[in-house]
Amino acid sequence: LPVLANQHVIKAGYVLDVASGKQLKDQYIVVDNGKITSISSNQPASFDQTKLIDLSDKYLVPGLMDMHTHVVRNLSKNYFDSYFQSPHRSTIGGVVNIEKTLLAGITTIRNVGASDYRDVALRNAVNAGEIPGPRMFVSGPSLGITGGHCDSNALNHTFNEKSQGVADGPWAARLKVRQNVKYQVDVIKFCATGGVFSKGTKLGQRQYTFEEMKAIVDEAHTHGRTVAAHAHGTEGIQFAIKAGVDSIEHASFLDKETIKLAKKYGTYLSMDIYNTEYTLSKGEENGVPEENLNKERKVGGIQRESFSKAVKAGVNMVMGTDAGIYPHGDNAKQLSRMTKFGMTPLQALQAATINSAKLLKQEKTLGQIKEGFFADIIAVDANPLEQITTLENVSFVMKDGVVYKQ
Ligand code: ARG
Repeated sequence: LPVLANQHVIKAGYVLDVASGKQLKDQYIVVDNGKITSISSNQPASFDQTKLIDLSDKYLVPGLMDMHTHVVRNLSKNYFDSYFQSPHRSTIGGVVNIEKTLLAGITTIRNVGASDYRDVALRNAVNAGEIPGPRMFVSGPSLGITGGHCDSNALNHTFNEKSQGVADGPWAARLKVRQNVKYQVDVIKFCATGGVFSKGTKLGQRQYTFEEMKAIVDEAHTHGRTVAAHAHGTEGIQFAIKAGVDSIEHASFLDKETIKLAKKYGTYLSMDIYNTEYTLSKGEENGVPEENLNKERKVGGIQRESFSKAVKAGVNMVMGTDAGIYPHGDNAKQLSRMTKFGMTPLQALQAATINSAKLLKQEKTLGQIKEGFFADIIAVDANPLEQITTLENVSFVMKDGVVYKQ
């Protein structure tokens, strides 16, 4: 075996094949130039011993993928921070947050909603190797109707406040998609219904019309971008699915018909069922207004029931946490809630790896520890299929063949 400059050989105790659920014992994983070039129970014939990473007492899992984050936001710290922080300051916060995220074993994120293309800047800096962070698939400003969940409605009208992604009507919405594409987003996010953390919006209330949603999806797909729709209420979820979105974020109010629809269209559900606990215990102390706390109290339980129903029905599920509502780096806490509300540990891990890779259309290179795949590998001390919470304390993180934590 030729010794390449950036080669590693990992001696692994157990390697989880997330596709089959099998755990392969005592494997050697060879990593060359960021990719996995072989996995075998035989030690490579010859290699640079200094490049050996001994994880023979660990359980290896593909790097986790979180499909719903807000890395340039810290709702958890001070609800009104965004009013007082410049975009530059908050982007620097993002630098800190993505490192925390990566070190927690989240090697890929989708960031859904950031003004000023702060997420694009972060992604580009990560890709250029300037700062540590996960692989980032980013949306730039979220599209939304005037006064909707993706607008800013807190200040009175004399401030003329308006979020950057606000667009009413199919053509205005197409223009926003085109602008986001122009400034290099990977995914388009829009708000289909009201939400918890916005002023004056109702969770169950649909916002964009079907015509607008179709225009957004058509424009995005034309330009090779996937679409994520924020939707709590049933009608908004249904319209978004029928309009052809790739994922529904939150998906709180699901009935039988909507679940059927999601199955028929193959839509992925990204349900943030952990953050409820954080908001209800810490929200008040962090200054979250009563209106928003109240909405959280109403939706949390229902969303978890919907999650259980969707899992039972076999809908496509990914892991989406809404990190930023709670502290960055706690993303994996959601996995145990996913098992509590109906998934097996393997299903939860599949949601956070192979399914997320499919949603991103990266399933040929991300989401598995497999030959030809990017070397995004994490390790934990206990068997994650028996003890899912072990993923809250990862002891090893490799992304792109680079070790970030050991
Ligand atoms: N960003 C979402 C919203 O404001 C968060 C919802 C959080 N709560 C929940 N139960 N998922 O609507």
